[in-house]
Amino acid sequence: MAHRWTNTLNHQDITPEAAFLNRRQVMAGLGVGLGLAGLGGVAQAQNALEPNSYEDITSYNNYYEFGTGKDDPARNAHTLTTSPWTVQIDGLVDQPGEYAFADIMDAMTIEERIYRFRCVEAWSMVIPWNGFELADLLNMAGVQSGAKYVAFETVLRPDEMPGVRFPVLDWPYVEGLRLDEAMHPLTIMATGIYGKDIPNQNGAPLRLVVPWKYGFKSIKSVVRITLTEDEPPTSWNKANAREYGFYSNVNPEVSHPRWSQSSERVIGSGLFAKRQPTLMFNGYEDEVASLYEGMDLKANF
Ligand code: MTE
Repeated sequence: MAHRWTNTLNHQDITPEAAFLNRRQVMAGLGVGLGLAGLGGVAQAQNALEPNSYEDITSYNNYYEFGTGKDDPARNAHTLTTSPWTVQIDGLVDQPGEYAFADIMDAMTIEERIYRFRCVEAWSMVIPWNGFELADLLNMAGVQSGAKYVAFETVLRPDEMPGVRFPVLDWPYVEGLRLDEAMHPLTIMATGIYGKDIPNQNGAPLRLVVPWKYGFKSIKSVVRITLTEDEPPTSWNKANAREYGFYSNVNPEVSHPRWSQSSERVIGSGLFAKRQPTLMFNGYEDEVASLYEGMDLKANF
């Protein structure tokens, strides 16, 4: 049984959920696409990658700029204007500038990636993203040799974002990765879900997805990407450094100060929600553990 697979898909393609699931089953039946090309190893047989429904993925969200309730983003985020959209890429790059989203889409190869998604609040989903590798975008801008980190920023539009009246976080939402994490082939900028354009509540028109890290690293509606020499500030770390580290790799052995991270509630598993064990690096250990060789993962949480 295939646990991960990818294939290329044009971003204009529309894949209804039923057809998508059917195609996935067909592919699994044919034994096609075991693993990501070049990444070696097939993920363990636990925590099967059965995607959540489109409804689950687009109605149970965290996007605090639109409110802190799980259903606030789906209700409020329609006010966000996502076209036209530009992404400023700057800092230690050869070609800094404002890149139009449409031009980025023309230049990138859109693929489907079915990833586990594990929130730091100990719930999880499986999401069939469409998107492109962040490495391709960074290479397009030309990463300079002094760059060691990548900083990301979400759009800040108080007129369109009812949640930013409240000082829950220091707006705009900012995130960051080490350069090798950003360049890893599992790291994508997602632009779609189930073959449809990504909905506003999930971070339209493009958001980061880093599947081996807690969900808050996967910053939404990105307007700026900056290559830096120093570790950039990140929103949840600024809010509470004791609870949220820069790395935030999924790790069942490192508890959050207020709850265990050893298991997770599976969204969409019914009234008596199923819990399942949380996997090291969210099940992507074979692919990413080498990035952290020699590091104390308890100290660098
Ligand atoms: N990005 C921004 N700009 N604002 C947010 O509040 N929430 C984060 C992350 N990215 C958030 C964000 C958190 S806590 C999670 S778990 C995921 O988005 C949720 O993504 P989803 O709603 O697509 O499942």
